[in-house]
Amino acid sequence: MSGDNNSPSGRNHCAYFHPNPSMAKPFSFNLLPLFFHCSLLLPSSATSPIQDDESHIISRFQQYLQINTSQPSPDYQKSTQFLLSQSLSLSLESQVLEFVERKPLVLLKWPGSDPSLPSILLNSHTDVVPSEHSKWTHPPFGSHIDEKGNIFARGSQDMKCVGMQYLEAVRKLKVSGFRPKRSLYMSFVPDEEIGGVHGARKFASSDFFKNMNVGIVLDEGLASPNENYRLFYGERTPWMIVIKSTGAPGHGAKLYDNSAMENLFLSIESIGRFRASQFDLVKSGLKAEGEVISVNMAFLKAGTPSPTGFVMNLQPSEAEAGFIPNTTNG
Ligand SMILES: *[C@@H]1O[C@H](CO)[C@@H](O)[C@H](O)[C@H]1NC(C)=O
Ligand SMILES: [Zn+2]
Repeated sequence: MSGDNNSPSGRNHCAYFHPNPSMAKPFSFNLLPLFFHCSLLLPSSATSPIQDDESHIISRFQQYLQINTSQPSPDYQKSTQFLLSQSLSLSLESQVLEFVERKPLVLLKWPGSDPSLPSILLNSHTDVVPSEHSKWTHPPFGSHIDEKGNIFARGSQDMKCVGMQYLEAVRKLKVSGFRPKRSLYMSFVPDEEIGGVHGARKFASSDFFKNMNVGIVLDEGLASPNENYRLFYGERTPWMIVIKSTGAPGHGAKLYDNSAMENLFLSIESIGRFRASQFDLVKSGLKAEGEVISVNMAFLKAGTPSPTGFVMNLQPSEAEAGFIPNTTNG
């Protein structure tokens, strides 16, 4: 990373930098110690000085939702333009960080009156998961709003609502004359839905992030269908585990010990028993779902399928099973 691009301060509406990839360190999820639903930041509408602004708030939200940031080819150019225009209207400092080409991370800053204090970071991702058009009553990027005020759009919950709530909360605070003591950052990160490897991971391990001196991060929670917002102070950590077993290959009719399939099934059965023991704790009410370790099998891969759909008369020498355990650190 070049030195003069290293400073997070300064009004700079389109700074791109390409940090040296060799600087990347392993990403630690522990960087994000606390997770709240961001809606907590919104002043209640009853006391808001800009109540009549509601239709503008909704239409800004709709604009964001209309940008097709669907994986695997999100339109990050449009979402970046939109976020920079929001930043401009809020007189925030803004930077576009491209740790990987065409994977822009939009970073906004509201400088605090005491820059020596650790800062606050509000994070959200700009990409959304794909949608099956035929299963939708309204087009996924049409942002249709019905007479009850329900908005239909991919990303309306996960998680463009959160990103917009950050911005609208800042707008209300600015209108009210509030000035933060700590610097407030808002990061809009790419590629969260595909693991964040080119987004949050690069960001969190960068010197840029270190220099921000972040004290607390608020990130994705659950959307709320009513006025109550749930508070989260922990995060589930997903692991991807592939178990690969080997054994002697052999004719389909022969019985022998230590085949790859037999070895794999010993592991599958053992993990299955662990899964059942954890699930029993939830079923009996002793633990909440978030308090146990979940583990699900995601794929099985073994043997040679025959082109006719017939079973090949062969015991394979290798077999694999993929698991997704989720551990809790809350
Ligand atoms: C969103 O963009 C992708 C990639 O360009 C495209 O395949 C998809 O059909 C678009 N979705 C909609 C609903 O327009
Ligand atoms: Zn999400």
